[in-house]
Amino acid sequence: MLGNFSYHNATKLYFGAEALQYLNDELPKYGKNVQLVYGGGSIKKNGIYDSIVKILNENEKTIIEDGGVMPNPTADKLREGARLAKTNNVDFILAVGGGSCCDYAKAVSVSAYCNDDPWEKYYIRFEDPDCKIIPVGCVLTMAGTGSEMNAGSVITNHEQKLKIGHVFGSEVMPKFSILNPEFTYSLPKYQMTAGIYDIFNHICEQYFSGEDDNTSDYIAEGLMKSLIKSSLTAVKDPENYEARSNIMWTATWALNTLISRGKKTDWMVHMIGQAVGAYTDATHGMTLAAVSLPYYRFVMPYGKKKFIRFAHNVWNINTEGMSEQAAAEAGLEAMEKWMRELGLVMRISDLGVDEDMIEGISDATILLDGGYKKLLREDVINILRESM
Ligand code: NZQ
Ligand code: ZN
Repeated sequence: MLGNFSYHNATKLYFGAEALQYLNDELPKYGKNVQLVYGGGSIKKNGIYDSIVKILNENEKTIIEDGGVMPNPTADKLREGARLAKTNNVDFILAVGGGSCCDYAKAVSVSAYCNDDPWEKYYIRFEDPDCKIIPVGCVLTMAGTGSEMNAGSVITNHEQKLKIGHVFGSEVMPKFSILNPEFTYSLPKYQMTAGIYDIFNHICEQYFSGEDDNTSDYIAEGLMKSLIKSSLTAVKDPENYEARSNIMWTATWALNTLISRGKKTDWMVHMIGQAVGAYTDATHGMTLAAVSLPYYRFVMPYGKKKFIRFAHNVWNINTEGMSEQAAAEAGLEAMEKWMRELGLVMRISDLGVDEDMIEGISDATILLDGGYKKLLREDVINILRESM
């Protein structure tokens, strides 16, 4: 492994079908006023809300309700949540939901006592918090983003047509996260598969960079293989605990910084996907799925060796006797077949993108240079056109 790095993860995890009971161990560590963050109502339908409220009441907490967090949480909602936290003197924020609730809770935690506009400070100027930070905990109901064990927080600004992520320091990470795979059973198939592709792409974004022999890549291959196997089981049998638990655990390890150690990391599929999201408000994982193949086919000639290794080690393809080009392409073909089997959205036109948006989406795409080929604006336009 090349490079110097440190590794620290501040989030404690409780995993399994019995995990929720550990909320009783965690809540006494924090003050009385708990801001209960949740989304559009799924937790009320599946009963998770009632279980949580019961535990909060038993722990004599005052609940400050903060529901209605939308998928792809907005800057306006963030400002509202920050005001709510400050007005109610909130001691602790408990996010119950997917990545959107967890990201939003982190953003509120650094915004309640921020003297500036949080969107401008954290998402435009990328400054660090310099105010009191409210601790956050998470009860995860959707596997995908890895937000439960990282410091990332993505916020969308519809007026500015921007969707931007800020990776904060470890003081913003959830103090604990509760991961019960059964909580993901009620997810609609569309969300489940979007989450699965989000996980896969997080791994790809870190794997497809660098040329050195790196332990992180071997871990990444193991995670991808587990995810491929479990995803194919889960689409047929959504209540298969073994599959859903593997998916949930893989999601966490895909983006808790472990497999990025010693890696440059790419993240261009996410940059393009986020720009598509800013224009369409589409489901995060589907934006990634729809732009991935044109992107990887574009960068593949610049990182052929890794793509051949991907074909061989992840998809078990015997590449002996194949030309380099054919061997590298074989891995992407296997990935495409798997994506179609999951029923992922493969075109941005199916997510609401039309030709008139392409220039704007490419302008909203942040160009990073950790992958095998730094994209030019023109390249982004071509990839978007290929993705239509
Ligand atoms: O809002 P409710 O009613 O709860 O419904 C949600 C939502 O509609 C539903 N859902 C979640 N759990 C459910 C459920 N429905 C039934 N049963 C359950 N158990 O699923 C929908 C999507 O939820 P959401 O939280 O938006 O999905 P996800 O976890 O994919 O989070 C997406 C957000 O995370 C950001 C994305 O950009 C997006 O804004 N990301 C955060 C990252 C991070 N923190 O590191 C990295 C990712 O790359 C990503 O960018
Ligand atoms: Zn993602």
